Amino acid sequence: MSIQIKPNIYWVGAIDWGLRHFHGHTYYTKRGGTYNSYLIMDEIPTLVDAVLGDFSQEMIDRIKEITSLESIKQIIVNHVEPDHSGALPELLKLIPHAKLFGTAKCKEGLAKYYQSNWNFQVVKTGDSISTGQKTVKFLEASMIHWPDSMFSYIPQEKLLLPNDGFGQQWACNERFDDEVDQAILYEETVKYYASILWPWSTVIKQKLDELQNLSWEIDMIAPAHGLIWRQNPKRVMDWYHKWSSNESDKKVVIVYETMWNSTKQMAEAIGQGLQEVGIPYQIFDINQTDKTDVLTAMLDAKAYLFGSAAYDGDMLPNLAGFMHYLRGCHPQGRIAGSFGSFGWGGGATKALEQFITDMKVEMPIPSLTLQWRPTEQELEKCRQFGRDFGEKIKI
Ligand code: FEO
Repeated sequence: MSIQIKPNIYWVGAIDWGLRHFHGHTYYTKRGGTYNSYLIMDEIPTLVDAVLGDFSQEMIDRIKEITSLESIKQIIVNHVEPDHSGALPELLKLIPHAKLFGTAKCKEGLAKYYQSNWNFQVVKTGDSISTGQKTVKFLEASMIHWPDSMFSYIPQEKLLLPNDGFGQQWACNERFDDEVDQAILYEETVKYYASILWPWSTVIKQKLDELQNLSWEIDMIAPAHGLIWRQNPKRVMDWYHKWSSNESDKKVVIVYETMWNSTKQMAEAIGQGLQEVGIPYQIFDINQTDKTDVLTAMLDAKAYLFGSAAYDGDMLPNLAGFMHYLRGCHPQGRIAGSFGSFGWGGGATKALEQFITDMKVEMPIPSLTLQWRPTEQELEKCRQFGRDFGEKIKI
């Protein structure tokens, strides 16, 4: 069912109940997802963003609840990625007269994805179009999170349509932030930021400042994924301010991969040491936890500890995959350390140190490596390692 979100502006998107892996396999979406599309019913009916190709009919059916498809004259394409543009070929087969608006990069991307020659007008920051009684202003938002990305804003309704900004992946029947469980809303918002936007924190921070300087009045944020922020849109902007500023809490995320549980024993003993000096921590076995959840826990943590058994002179492969994933997020202002057990040649902690160095994250204490199964004396060394690392977090 379509939902009116503002006078004569409707949600006409699609709900992907079965979505479990988004962006390839980089983001585990245990609650499914949505692709939000909005219809401005004005003198010139205008669609803002489309949906994934598989959901074209679902979007079209929702539009038809409000108006005939043929009445749509303009389509704003805030972002070229297929979860928003995939339905365009089907849509433009039915309404070839519609004029598209987007950034120059968006035009390039659409042409390459769809070999299209659609009627497209390039727009940039400061441009606007009329839908009749309402105006849509544009703000380029390059790298939030693709080069083509753009925000749209309707001043008459104080409505920001930031596409991928401020979203969550959560399939549900509710459309507004005040209708859902607030703890889940936070969980899905932070997970979305960690999975999709963390690498672009610097530009997000700049964009938040730019929005503030524009003095646009915003009383609703309608993103292209998840719930619409109508109760208090400032709340999600404040969260984004914290995350994009790399503000973190004094807590530790320990993530490890073990072969015969020696590295696991080390992780748990290190945790005991952290607890003894009053530092909260979470432990994740990378083989038992989805990497999206680990990354999410890391977003607001001050410190990370990585542990691996040695394997062919290196760390174990699933932790290596996670390290690659984390390195791409460019965490800043954190501290980290490494530990692990080895049998004969070692190499895991050295490989972890290299990742930590590559991330330009400070390593305040030396790595801890132990051979075979830790003895009780060695477990005490692990606890001391935890205490020493915990003291560094307090500084
Ligand atoms: Fe929701 Fe970047 O696409």
